[in-house]
Order: sequence, then C-alpha cells, then structure tokens
Amino acid sequence: MVELALPRNAKVQKGSRYPAQPGAKKTRTFKVYRWSPDDDRNPRLDEFEVDTGTCGTMVLDALIYIKNQQDSSLTFRRSCREGICGSCAMNIDGVNTLACLKPIEEIEGEVKVYPLPHMPVIKDLVPDLSHVYAQYTAIKPWLQTESAPPPDRERLQAPEDTRLIDEATTCILCFCCSTSCPSYWWNGDKFLGPAILLQAYRWIADSRDEHTGERLDDLEDPFRLYRCHTIMNCTKSCPKGLNPARAIAEIKKLMVERRV
Ligand code: SF4
Ligand code: SF4
Ligand code: FES
Repeated sequence: MVELALPRNAKVQKGSRYPAQPGAKKTRTFKVYRWSPDDDRNPRLDEFEVDTGTCGTMVLDALIYIKNQQDSSLTFRRSCREGICGSCAMNIDGVNTLACLKPIEEIEGEVKVYPLPHMPVIKDLVPDLSHVYAQYTAIKPWLQTESAPPPDRERLQAPEDTRLIDEATTCILCFCCSTSCPSYWWNGDKFLGPAILLQAYRWIADSRDEHTGERLDDLEDPFRLYRCHTIMNCTKSCPKGLNPARAIAEIKKLMVERRV
C-alpha cells in the first residue's frame, strides 16, 4: 500500500512555551501556528499562557495581548476589530472565522489558532491572498454599462432590485467560505470559489448592469462555476451569516434559463 507523508520541512513541530506573566489569575492556553520565511525552521505551534483577565474577550484580543506582552514577532492581520474589514480571518478551534468576533469563552480547553487553510502562508497567521484577489479582479467587480450618456448623479435602483444584491454587498471578502470549500482546496487554481462567485452574482443580479450575458459567458466553464458540488461548507462557515451557496445556485439557474 502506498504510504503518504508530508515533506519533512512541512511538518508542524512543537514550538516554544511562553508562561503566564507574574500575577496572572485567569489564564488560558493558546497554541498558535508560527512560520517565518526568514529562517529555515519548520512550522511550529507555540504555546502561550494568556491572562484573559487583563485582555478583552475575543480571540483577537488575546493575540494582541500575546504580541504586546509575550512575543512581538507574532504576525497577523487586523484592522477594524468589529467584523467589518475581514482581515482577521483565521482558523480558530478548527473553524474558519473572524478572530475579532470569536469569544474566547466559547472555546473549551486549549485555543488552537492557525491561518486560513489551503492558502500559502506569508508569515504566521497571514495567508497570501494574491491569487484570490486576482480571481476577484477577473470577474470585473464594477458596474458595466453601455447606455450613453452616463448620468450626472448616482444610478438609482428600485428597493426590490436592491434586495437582490443586499446579501452580496454585505460580504466583507474575508474568504472564510472559500477556504472551507473542499472543491476550492483541490481546484482553487481554476474554480472561483464561493466568495468570488457570490461577488460575480452581485454584478449579474444588479439591475443597473448591462453586461449580464458576458458575465454569464465568463462563468460557463467546467471549473470556474461548476466545480461547486453544493457541499455547503461555505454557507456554514460564513461569519456574517451569508449564503454564498444560494448565490451559486442562482447563477446555475440563470445559466439553465438562458439555454431554454
Ligand atoms: S456549496 Fe460547497 S462546493 Fe459549492 S462553493 Fe460552497 S462549499 Fe464549495
Ligand atoms: S461570503 Fe461570508 S465567508 Fe465568504 S467572503 Fe463573504 S463574508 Fe467572508
Ligand atoms: S479586525 Fe476587521 S474583521 Fe476582524
């Protein structure tokens, strides 16, 4: 039988242990993935004893505590701290989510923190999003119109038309969904994945856009759209409660409707 094994330098090893600060009363253990391109060490899991009595209640607060108090080299993205920017997406306790919205108390035992899965890692908890942003650019995420002349004020939309795109415009492009999708793990080079397809739907469904046909043509491909097998992991993992699987189903429906 064939035995598969990770290359030696890909194995996650036991890392350093950072004990609690003197006087800490309410400690929790955080095991955090570490990897740096600046040395030739394997990835490792460092262990931090965090005094949760002196930091905020969310996992992001604990990571900021670690960076400020225990190891300033810990690298992660964050900006808004309230679930708006999407930059703190990571895998916490086995689930892709936003660190700023994940309460520490919801997690039992050790808190394990990894970068979003199946993405190249730039450093520690920072995934390389270049490919997924190139895919985003490919769907032309802007209004395309032919009617001339362009209006001298914003293009208005009826409330019932706005409702069609409301959900997609709430997406914060955190990519928790795409990195939970098995089809995206294995075919992410060609399959656009749920986050980008939700955005593709946003422009297809926009009543003001005049390139719907071309947008559908661009998705009419065995991989870009049809690698979605309706596994639904994407919808389960969205920290904003959105339903990219439904948007994908709507695109597939439009593909069928235009054929008949
Ligand atoms: S429904 Fe399943 S296969 Fe389709 S995008 Fe979502 S997770 Fe991926
Ligand atoms: S659909 Fe949800 S999980 Fe996916 S990118 Fe948008 S906000 Fe993030
Ligand atoms: S820091 Fe902006 S979503 Fe978490």
